[in-house]
Amino acid sequence: MDKKFIIAGNWKMNKTIEESISFFNTLHKNLTFNDSVEVLIFPPAIALSALTSVAGKIQLGAQNFHDADSGAYTGEISQKMLSGLATYLLAGHSERRQIFGESDELINRKVQTALNNGFIPVLCIGETLAERERGDTFNIVQSQLEVALKDIQELSYERLVIAYEPVWAIGTGKTATPEQAQEVHEFIRKFLSGKTQSAARVPILYGGSVKPENSYDLLSQNDINGALIGGASLKPDQFFDIISNSYKLI
Ligand code: PGA
Repeated sequence: MDKKFIIAGNWKMNKTIEESISFFNTLHKNLTFNDSVEVLIFPPAIALSALTSVAGKIQLGAQNFHDADSGAYTGEISQKMLSGLATYLLAGHSERRQIFGESDELINRKVQTALNNGFIPVLCIGETLAERERGDTFNIVQSQLEVALKDIQELSYERLVIAYEPVWAIGTGKTATPEQAQEVHEFIRKFLSGKTQSAARVPILYGGSVKPENSYDLLSQNDINGALIGGASLKPDQFFDIISNSYKLI
């Protein structure tokens, strides 16, 4: 097997700076890094600066960012401010879409500027329960991809990560079965192959109640190249166990 994985933790609005540093120290004590598995954390933005000195091989990402360089946007963080602190930028998370009203068009601007500024955007997409129940999963995923990736140059796909996160599985304890997830990942891969020669190399992560217990089966699916983990990424032992499961598959 020559699979590569990205195991990413999205901490959302959890952990103080001290708690963030302590998590990194614990993970470093337990983890032997492997080049085939990228370990990535999206901590709260205010912890990024302190974490750069303890991150080592753990990659850092920002949970949110503005598409403008600077200006009168109270409370926002620009990519210029994040440069040197974060490598990855999360765009299109369903909480940003649902709670903060982010549209596919805004997400497209964010993905474009992130790529232009040398970051690796992690574009999140996924259907709600109502959309799945009325059989609209593929339509929704396709339209989110069409708009969010509009005018992205072919070469930029080399620096793009997609995260499929069914909204009904986020924070609910309900995970998509490995087969349900694989089916959508395969659909996303086909969509990408219409846009780029490098579709096979675009990492497509699964997210939504990933835990140590379900991670091996999910990660063993053909088109699943990693996980974006919320709740279980807050506890070093659970996050470590998910990383360890990915090691069994490389
Ligand atoms: P969860 O969150 O693992 O707690 O379901 C995933 C996410 O929101 O990225």
